[in-house]
This record gives sequence, structure tokens and C-alpha cells, in this order.
Amino acid sequence: MLDVKKVRGGSGLDPISAEVDEILASAEEAARVATKSFFDSFQKDPNPAALATWLETRVWREIDYVYLLNAQIGRYGMRLQRKHITLLAKQSFQEAEHYEDLGQVLENLGGTVPTSVPAQAQEWSSWLWECMDRHHLAGIAAWYVSETSASGSFEPTFEGCGRHGYTDVVKCYKQIEIDEKFHTGLGRQILSTYTETDEDRAEILRAMRGMQKIAWKTFTPENVAASMAARSASAAAVAN
Ligand SMILES: [Fe+2]
Ligand SMILES: [Fe+2]
Repeated sequence: MLDVKKVRGGSGLDPISAEVDEILASAEEAARVATKSFFDSFQKDPNPAALATWLETRVWREIDYVYLLNAQIGRYGMRLQRKHITLLAKQSFQEAEHYEDLGQVLENLGGTVPTSVPAQAQEWSSWLWECMDRHHLAGIAAWYVSETSASGSFEPTFEGCGRHGYTDVVKCYKQIEIDEKFHTGLGRQILSTYTETDEDRAEILRAMRGMQKIAWKTFTPENVAASMAARSASAAAVAN
């Protein structure tokens, strides 16, 4: 099996690496704060439906990554070295496993695995696809930020779910945490290997800055409250 640590990147990101690192650090911190805030509110009212709703957009992100990675290979794969196609396909397979495993956890909580983009994930999903359409590296740049931001959610998730005995959620995210290190490493490697021009760098920064504004919102208690309110409004409309 290919070891991502042995696949060397290039120097294409060097002129913007300080800004890239700043965006990544701030996206990760924002997700950490948002996740902590969600579990603080969950502590006051530990309703499993709230945890299920919180997981729903996360589950969607997993399957959207599968679509995106396969689209990346389908549209732009012939620009890549074969080993990078293999590594993107491996990432895609792992995202599908996350969709399956996290989907099971969600169902165990009484939730429903989304089969279309949930309202609360729409802005995030649209940004990724817009970036994918614009430039061969912009989709990767956007999901590199999104995946890095998700890394900030792990610690507060382990703590919050552990406190309430949701060991299956913790177990699932422990595996995802391991896989994410590979995914973010691969994102960095592909960007640094294939970035060549100032235009490439401008597109990468545009994609990353856009995702920086969006990625953390998934994890907030406000996001969960909005989803739950929308669901009860539509259930009430059906009942009437
Ligand atoms: Fe994933
Ligand atoms: Fe991932």
C-alpha cells in the first residue's frame, strides 16, 4: 500500500504557505470552539435527537466527499501522477466507510441518514462544488480546509460523547481521526505538488478563505437548533 508520508510534495505553495497555515489554524480552532459550545448546550439538555441532528450534516459531508473525490479523479485525474489517483481513490473509499459507519451510529440514535444535502450543509456543499468547477486545485483546497477544521472537532466530541456514554460515536470518530491525518496530508501534498502559477495560488486562496467562513458552522448548537426547528415546523405542516 502506498504510504503518503513517502510521497514528496513540491514547492508550489511556498509563496503563500504562511497564509495557508493561518487559514488552516483558524478553521480548526473555530470548529473546536463550535463543537465545545454544542456539547456545553447538550450537557444542559442531553436530548439524543439533538446529537442525531448534529451528526446528520456530518454524515452528509462524508458522502459528498465521495462524490467530490470521484469527480476530481474523473475531471482532472489525467493531470495527476498515477500514485495520486490511487491515493485520492483510497481517500474516497475511506470517506464511503465513514458514511457507512457514521450512518449506522446515526440510526442507532434514532436519526435518519440523509440521502440529499441537508439544508444546514447546503452552503458548505455548494462552495465545494463551485470551487471544483472553477479550477483543478480549488476543490481540493476547499476540502483541505474543511477536513482540517473537522480535526478541531474531535477532542471536544470525544469528551462530550464520552461524558454521556455514547461510546459508539467515540469509537467511530477515533477511526475517522486516524484517516483524517492521511486525508489532510494528501491535500497538502497534492496542492504543493501541482500548484504552478500565481493564478493557481489565487484560486487556492479564494477557495480556502471561502471555506474558512463556512466550515465551522456545521458544529454549532445554533445550527442544530435551526435544523430541529425546521423539522418540527414541517412535521406540524404535514399534521395539519
Ligand atoms: Fe471522512
Ligand atoms: Fe476525510
